[in-house]
Parts: sequence; structure tokens; C-alpha cells
Amino acid sequence: TGFTQAPVLKPYAVSRNPDDYEKKINYYSVTQVAATASILPNKNLLTQILGYNGIFPGPTIRVERGTKAYLRVRNQMPATDPRAGHLLYSSTHLHGSASLPQFDGYASDIVHTRFAKDYEYPNDQPARTLWYHDHAVHNTAPNVYSGLVGQYHMHDDLERGLLPQGRFDVAVTISDAMFAENGELGYDDNDQSGVYGDVILVNGRPWPVMQVQRRIYRFRLLNGCVSRSFRLRLDTGDPVLMVATDGGLMPRSQEVSQWRHASGERYEILIDFRNYQPGQRIQLMNLSNDNNVDYNHTDKIMAFDVVDSPVDTSDPTWNTLPIELDPGNEVMALKSSDALIRRHFRLKRDDRTNMWTIDGQTWADVVASNYQRIVANPELNSTEIWEFENSSGGWFHPMHVHLVDFKIIGGENRANYAYEQGPKDVVYVGEGETAHLLMKFGPHRGRYMIHCHNLPHEDHDMMVQFRVGTAAL
Ligand code: C2O
Ligand code: CU
Repeated sequence: TGFTQAPVLKPYAVSRNPDDYEKKINYYSVTQVAATASILPNKNLLTQILGYNGIFPGPTIRVERGTKAYLRVRNQMPATDPRAGHLLYSSTHLHGSASLPQFDGYASDIVHTRFAKDYEYPNDQPARTLWYHDHAVHNTAPNVYSGLVGQYHMHDDLERGLLPQGRFDVAVTISDAMFAENGELGYDDNDQSGVYGDVILVNGRPWPVMQVQRRIYRFRLLNGCVSRSFRLRLDTGDPVLMVATDGGLMPRSQEVSQWRHASGERYEILIDFRNYQPGQRIQLMNLSNDNNVDYNHTDKIMAFDVVDSPVDTSDPTWNTLPIELDPGNEVMALKSSDALIRRHFRLKRDDRTNMWTIDGQTWADVVASNYQRIVANPELNSTEIWEFENSSGGWFHPMHVHLVDFKIIGGENRANYAYEQGPKDVVYVGEGETAHLLMKFGPHRGRYMIHCHNLPHEDHDMMVQFRVGTAAL
């Protein structure tokens, strides 16, 4: 099947920002609905999904750094999940945004059917690939699996001067799914350890093929799986040029021939198709990672067919492989010696209850405390080192800290990967590994979530909260 991308969402209104007349505010609206999608090659088999504006993935939002965005999310989904039967409510998180706590998609800040919520996104961080997805307490995995996912691209001058734009700047949301014979999604989470599909979807299409010119392309790769992690590479064995991580441009680009890529992580890569001949097919492959469930064709993601069409050489990005990107990146400039506090978090399964814990705690503990319980209370603008230790066997945990971008500064049983030399907000903590993160807490005070981005783990309660500063929020 052919490769497609989600449409770009147009703002329904644009105004000047009263706080700064040189700047603008974009107003967007999306509606969450149950819809039918034609995902499988057999057009008679339709699949029920949940989608922002009824599509999967949802529309891509594209904003300029400094332009504030208001996003109204209307929940017009049925009151109960048509497939799983549980109550259906939502909470929308813009992953990668330093949003105020009340707009961060807090898991318990749920929006019921026929209600709406207005989210405010400041967009004053460096350019990056973000994504919005559902984050409703105990329902995040089924809601994301059903389709409540979309990309969000923030641009700025630095990034625009370095990397391909427009049709050469390509959104790639990778997910996996299991289909029943009638075309409906299957969801199997009996031991709460993960949900793995045997079909790989890219932007909602199984194993698509994209036609490419002989030039450099930029791909914004998002792992939108609920559980699966990938180890991506090209079938030619050629390296790709990695240019951005979760939090935007790396200080310097890195040649990478394979990389681990878990749920929630974003990597932007350049592929130089000048190296290949017209008629050649290049495949993006998935080497297996430990602790995933693999099927016959989960080793393939998508393919590129090189076509012999004229290249617009007036666009300098057609043949530019940048070396220096954002050498002054603030997160990557953080020093371990600035950190006054070091915290250690143990990631474990409670074998008695099958619940996943962070330092022995779960979201149930947070709820039971009436949302007062926190695992850390960094001062506003202070720098700390956090260590996530995955010493219990059989699992990997992609750990996500809301609000901040961090620098991975090593750990135990863990290499210094070239592809992690950029600002991150999810860290892959493989079995037996400990990851050390350096981060500065700001720009907002308040309570934010920390959780595993294997979403069935998050839903079975591998989520806690920290509080920045002493605000009463
Ligand atoms: Cu992408 Cu708290 O999630
Ligand atoms: Cu986990």
C-alpha cells in the first residue's frame, strides 16, 4: 500500500498575542469520535477506531516557536468503548511540551463524553517533534491503541535553516496492531505486561512503500506503539544521519546504523537517497529487541522506492548533511556538577498484584493520597540527577518524565549511544540497566507525572508524580 501522511490541521482562528503584539496565537479544535477506517488491503474489511477528527493518526499540528496554541478537544466518543466495553473518557497530553500542569493531560483530569477542554500550549521551547495522545487514567493503552494519536511539529529559524522542509519533512508514526478476521482491532493484555500486534502500521497503513527522489529526506520517526520497541536500521546496512531527539536538534548530527526506539521516543533522521539508483528499493527494518513479542513480519517497517524524477536543486537541503546543529543546546550544556540532588528510582513488578511500581509506588497510591503524594520535590530551576534502575528481569521500561527535557549521562550496563546525544524526554531502560539523567526543573511549578511509556504498564499503575517548587497546585 502507498505511504500517506495525516493532513495538517488549520487553525480556525489566529490572533495577536496580547502579551506580545509581535507574536500570534493559533486556535485549533479537534473532536474525538468513534469512526471507521480502511486500514487493511481488503477494502471490505473496515476497522473501528477512535480518532481525533475521526482519523488515525490524527491531524498533524504545525506551529512556529513563539506562537502560542490553544487546542480545544471535544470528546464526542460514545460513553463506553464500543470494543472493550469500559467507560470512555479522555485526557489529552502534548508529549514534549512544557505545558502548565492544568494543560498537561494529567491522567485524572478526565473529560467525559460531550464535554470539551481547552488546552494552552506555550511553544517557546526549541523546535522539535511532539505528539499529542490520550492520557486518561487506566485507559491510556486502549485509547492510544484505538487511534488517539497525532504528531505536532514545532518549527524555528535554526531548524528551518538546517533541515529539509515541506514535502521533504516527513511524519512517520509507527505502531503495531492485531486484527481479527472481521477487520476489527484485537487487544490482548491478559497479564498487563504489554500488547503486541503482528501488523506494523506506518501512519495507519500496513508496511507502506513511499516513492522518493534522489535527494536527502528528513523523517520524524515516532514510536506510537502501546508496548513494542524497535531496533531500527536500513536493509542496506548504511547509516542514517540522526539530527534530532525528543527535545529537538542535537548539538551535532550523528551517524547511526541502528538504534533502539521505544514507545514515546522521537528520532529525526536524514536519509540520503542520492546514494541509491532509480528503481532501487530500500527497506526500513526492525531488528529485534529483548523482551518484545515478535511475529513473522514485525521485522519490517516500511520501504522507499527511488524514482527517477528531477530534483529541485535550488533547495539547499537537497544535498546538505549538516554537522553542527545546535551546539549551544541548553539541556546538553547541563553539567553533572550543577546537580545538588541525586535520586534513585527502582522499577519493579509486584508479583503479588501484577502491578508495576516505581520505587514501590503506583498511581493508586497517588490517588489514595488525594494527589498529595509525590516522589520528588525539586526546587524551581534546580538541577538534579535521576537514576532509573530496572533490575527486575524480563522487561524494558521506556521512562518518561513530564515537563522537562533531560540529558542522558550514562548509567550501569548501558552504553553511551550516539543516538542519545541530544535532549530527551523518554529514556529506554532495558532489562538489567540503570539510566542516569541530568535535568533542570522548570519553567513551571506544580505537579507532573513520571511513568513508563509501555502503556499497559502505565495503566497498571506504573505512574507517580513529582512536584516542582512549592506551589499549591
Ligand atoms: Cu507520551 Cu505521559 O506520555
Ligand atoms: Cu514499563
